[in-house]
Amino acid sequence: MAKQRKLKLGVNISGVGNSMSVWRHPDVSTDASVSLDYYRQQALKAESGKFDLVFIADGLYINEKSNPHFLNRFEPLTILSALAAVTSQIGLVATLSTSYSEPFTVARQFSSLDHISGGRAGWNVVTSPLEGSAKNFGKGEHPAHELRYRIAEEYVQVVKGLWDSWEDDAFVRDKESGVFFDPGKLHTLNHKGEFFSVQGPLNIGRSRQGHPVVFQAGASESGRDLAARTAEAIYTGHELIEEAKLFYQDIKQRAAAYGRNPEEVLIFPGINPIIGRTQEEAELKYQEVANLVTIQSALDYLGRYFEHHDFSQYPLDEPFPDLGDFGANSFRGTTDRIKREAKELNLTLRQAAIRAATPRGNFIGTPEAVADLVEQWFKEEAADGFVIRTTVPRALDDFVDLVVPILQERGIYRTEYEADTLRGNLGIPIPANRYTKVTIAN
Ligand SMILES: Cc1cc2nc3c(=O)[nH]c(=O)nc-3n(C[C@H](O)[C@H](O)[C@H](O)COP(=O)(O)O)c2cc1C
Repeated sequence: MAKQRKLKLGVNISGVGNSMSVWRHPDVSTDASVSLDYYRQQALKAESGKFDLVFIADGLYINEKSNPHFLNRFEPLTILSALAAVTSQIGLVATLSTSYSEPFTVARQFSSLDHISGGRAGWNVVTSPLEGSAKNFGKGEHPAHELRYRIAEEYVQVVKGLWDSWEDDAFVRDKESGVFFDPGKLHTLNHKGEFFSVQGPLNIGRSRQGHPVVFQAGASESGRDLAARTAEAIYTGHELIEEAKLFYQDIKQRAAAYGRNPEEVLIFPGINPIIGRTQEEAELKYQEVANLVTIQSALDYLGRYFEHHDFSQYPLDEPFPDLGDFGANSFRGTTDRIKREAKELNLTLRQAAIRAATPRGNFIGTPEAVADLVEQWFKEEAADGFVIRTTVPRALDDFVDLVVPILQERGIYRTEYEADTLRGNLGIPIPANRYTKVTIAN
């Protein structure tokens, strides 16, 4: 009998919030983005709800128009190392860019987090959408979209290669004989490619998961292809179930075409649940937050996706402007969606900006109504799991306290962790060390 699919859950902890103005809400602590205490509370709340993972997003360029959370926030691996020490079962997924870092350092950092957390680390591979990022790294021009993905592809291969530097039983550590390691189980990568030249070996052994779990976020053609070839989970931004289903099928088909088991590439749409005792109460919660957004900050938020394009030059109450190719070199998947939705739903610029700046989504209503949607998306294969984002204060608490018990009652979500590693809970096997595999085959 086929293994029963179980829903997976993650939370994207985002300090003072993932919209422009929610920080002004009376229930939001204004220093949450740099508060260890806040991150700890959120991670422990998610762990009490048996969540698979905490997810930390990131960026490498800000200006005065950026979302308040982006202006003053923790570096992902640093905060997750701290959370590793105060949690015991939840996975820890950090975003790190392949456009502005070095594979050797990154392989080492994630392996360290995997060791520190006892096998709970994950890496969200991103390519950095914002051109301004180049200014912070003295690397000249920001690489164009396609090039970023070509770099990312080679980068991930190098990191995975470095993670196999040591076979699992390479460290003998025998005091008696004085043998610390078995030289036959130490492997030098000697990678020389188009973008990277990395000799190896890595100066840390294979971690509990073999390889930390590789996530990817990016929805364009090249993003999907990278994910289908190299990622084990994907974070997406679909809001409509029909679109999400098409994306789901597309990724699973691409993965199969690359000879992979599609069940080992999990799809996680990010959702913004807003929960009330009644539908009206939930709508009121949304309005409370939407009312805090000024139209200027909404335009700034929208502008960020389009390379900080200045939207204040267009009339607010006329149809969303025709932007041609604008945005194609930054958040392409996202800007394509914004343009398409504005056209399909006949949105004015004002409506499109408010919609982007204060995501409402469809997961709004009573706990039962939100659980129904979660179940529908899961059962109809629009999602393998979800990453909960917090548009309104207490969104995670409400989801864990009110929606999780319903999902458990319905038998689609765990009541206890299956394992104490991220891979174990996600049901994704430990990759064999490439060198060990060769030995066995011989
Ligand atoms: C749902 C989602 C989440 C993302 N999160 C991040 C992030 O935290 N940091 C980042 O630098 N880029 C992030 N990206 C951007 C991608 O990594 C990528 O650089 C950009 O979207 C262009 O890729 P695409 O056109 O394939 O979507 C995200 C993209 C999506 C769709």
